[in-house]
Amino acid sequence: MARLTVSGLTKTFGAFRALDDVSLDVADGEFVAILGPSGCGKTTLLRQVAGFDQPDAGSIAIGDTVVSTRERAMPPEERRIGIVFQSYALWPHMSVADNVAYGLTVAGVREPERSKRVDAALSLVELAGFAARRPSQLSGGQRQRVALARCLVTEPSLVLLDEPLANLDVHLRAAMEREFARFHERAGTTMVYITHDQAEAMALADRIAVMDKGRVLQFAAPSVLYREPADATVAGFIGEGMVVPATVAAVAGGTCDVDLFGHRATMRCSARTTPGPALVCLRASALSVAPEGTGALRMRVTGTIYQGGHFRVEGMIGADPGVALHFTVPEPCALASGSLVDLAVSDGWVIPGRAS
Ligand SMILES: Nc1ncnc2c1ncn2[C@@H]1O[C@H](COP(=O)(O)OP(=O)(O)OP(=O)(O)O)[C@@H](O)[C@H]1O
Ligand SMILES: [Mg+2]
Repeated sequence: MARLTVSGLTKTFGAFRALDDVSLDVADGEFVAILGPSGCGKTTLLRQVAGFDQPDAGSIAIGDTVVSTRERAMPPEERRIGIVFQSYALWPHMSVADNVAYGLTVAGVREPERSKRVDAALSLVELAGFAARRPSQLSGGQRQRVALARCLVTEPSLVLLDEPLANLDVHLRAAMEREFARFHERAGTTMVYITHDQAEAMALADRIAVMDKGRVLQFAAPSVLYREPADATVAGFIGEGMVVPATVAAVAGGTCDVDLFGHRATMRCSARTTPGPALVCLRASALSVAPEGTGALRMRVTGTIYQGGHFRVEGMIGADPGVALHFTVPEPCALASGSLVDLAVSDGWVIPGRAS
C-alpha cells in the first residue's frame, strides 16, 4: 500500500499537450477513479505513473519516493506497481496457476513460497478451484479475475487498472464491479481505476478525478461531484446535469435566490457566490410538473421517450432557440410534443465562477 502524489505533471507529444499540469494526491489505501472522455489523457497519466513514459514537467511520488521527473525515472519493475489492462493478456498455453505464478518466477521466488502465494492470490479473487484450467476454459469475468490475481500476487504497493471491464457485458460488469469493491475492502491496496463510465466510477471510488483535455477539472467524492460540480463541463458530464443561465439575487449562508427565466427558485451555492449572472446546474430529479397557476418555469415540450415505467420529457425554455431541459414523469404521460408545461424547480446548484 502506498500513497501516490502527482504534482504539476505535463506531458506533450510534439505540439500536443496530452497532460497539462495534472496534480492528484491519492491516500494510502484509497480507491480513486480517473474519469473522462476518450482521448482526455487517462492512459497517458497511467503510463507516467507506471514508468513506461517520462513527463516533460512535474513529478510523481509513490510513498515517500519520487519515481518520475523530467530528469529521472525509476524503472517500472522497481516501482512495485500492479497493472491490469482492458485486455487480460493471459498466456493461453499456461494454466491459471502458471499465469499467476509467472511474475513470481521472473522475480526468482522459489517453491514452496511461490505456490503458497499463487494459492493465496487465487483465493482472494475466489478462483481457488480453477488453478489447473487454461484461460480458454474460463468466462470473461473469470479471466479478468486471473489478471487481477496475477497483478496482486507480486504484492504491489499500488494497483493501476485501465478500463479493466470495458470488454465485458453489462451483467458481468456489475458482478465484476462488486468483485473489485470486495477485493479492495479485503486487501486495502491503493487503487487507481481508469474508466470513461461514470456509473462505474461512482459505484467504486472513494474519490473521482474528472479529466478533460489533459486537465483535472475536479477531484472529489462522487456525491460532491454530483451535488456541487466545480464547472459547467463537470456538471454536464456527471449525471447529465443541465447547465442553465440564471441571475443570482440574494445570497444567504449556502443558499440563494435565483432568477431562472423570470422564475424564482432557491438553490444551493458556495460561500463565495455573489449576486449577478451565473450558470446553474439542474438535475432531472429536481424538476416536476407544477400545479396550475403557480407561476412556474414554462417549458415547451419537444419530445417524450418511454423508459419503462416512466417517460423522459425533453423540451426548451426561454426565447428561441432556448435552453434544453429534461425531466421524467411516471406513465401514463399526457405531455405531447409542442405542448407547454409549467415546471417546479425544487433544487439546483450555482456553479462557482462568473458566467462568461
Ligand atoms: N505516443 C503518442 N504520440 C502522440 N500522441 C499520443 C501518444 N499517446 C497518446 N497520444 C494522444 O494523447 C491523447 C490522450 O491519449 P490517452 O491514450 O491518454 O487517452 P485516454 O483518455 O486514455 O482515451 P481512451 O478513453 O480512448 O483510452 C490522445 O489525443 C492521443 O491521441
Ligand atoms: Mg485509454
